[in-house]
Amino acid sequence: MDAAQIDQFKRFKNEITRFMMMYKFALDAFETKIEILKEEFQFLHDYNPIEHTKSRLKSPESIVKKLIRKGCDFSFDNIKSHIRDIAGIRITCSFISDIYRIREMLEKQSDLNIVEVKDYIRHPKPNGYRSLHLLAEIPVFMSDRQEQVCVEVQIRTIAMDFWASLEHKIYYKYNQAVPPGLLKELKEAADSAAALDRRMERLHKEIAVLKEERLAEGEERRRIVVSNQQFTIPAALLEWIDAGGEES
Ligand code: GTP
Ligand code: MG
Repeated sequence: MDAAQIDQFKRFKNEITRFMMMYKFALDAFETKIEILKEEFQFLHDYNPIEHTKSRLKSPESIVKKLIRKGCDFSFDNIKSHIRDIAGIRITCSFISDIYRIREMLEKQSDLNIVEVKDYIRHPKPNGYRSLHLLAEIPVFMSDRQEQVCVEVQIRTIAMDFWASLEHKIYYKYNQAVPPGLLKELKEAADSAAALDRRMERLHKEIAVLKEERLAEGEERRRIVVSNQQFTIPAALLEWIDAGGEES
């Protein structure tokens, strides 16, 4: 390599790094949004709808592979417009209703532009895959420019995540020809997971009603929250306080 080539390579490497950084910043900004929603939701509704989040950047190798698969020439503009899952975030929720609540909360944010929604919960994939996918554009401010960066958001329940993670593993192992019997069983497993989700949602709602009733009966007075953990002031202690806190 001569000096000019080395210089050109350095510039190219810089460009790739800055390009990837842009997606990393978009993910950081998105994660902060989710953190805020989580804390606020906890305060308003008294439970945390988000079990966990996981984000990832697609590797340059996977990006190039996908670009070739899509038959596009190499350019940063082509990558930006054709590969929209470079920045990905997966939000695992407790209940199905939480998924749609989170979607609603994200849609209300004026700096987020939801450019695509794929509802694989209302319309599961033939193999049984369920999740809500959003493509969201988020502004990223850098020293010399501002960019709208695309983030792929997958929102699912623990049961949906359980199924998708294992299905992914099984598929990878058997890669080429998956026997039809196995596909049928995977689909049945997905349906069982969905039935479990519906059942947990129902229990969640029933308990919420009971909780409301108990709160109305004056239970609220006894509830204390310390660092997201809930406690109840023991009845014996209440009696003692009501009696004036005197030792008997
Ligand atoms: P890709 O080109 O693979 O990104 O798919 P797409 O552009 O058609 O988007 P789609 O919304 O269908 O899927 C995007 C992502 O969702 C995938 O990269 C997976 O993470 C996840 N996904 C979609 N379908 C399945 C599935 O059948 N099983 C599992 N385990 N994950 C899936
Ligand atoms: Mg993908």
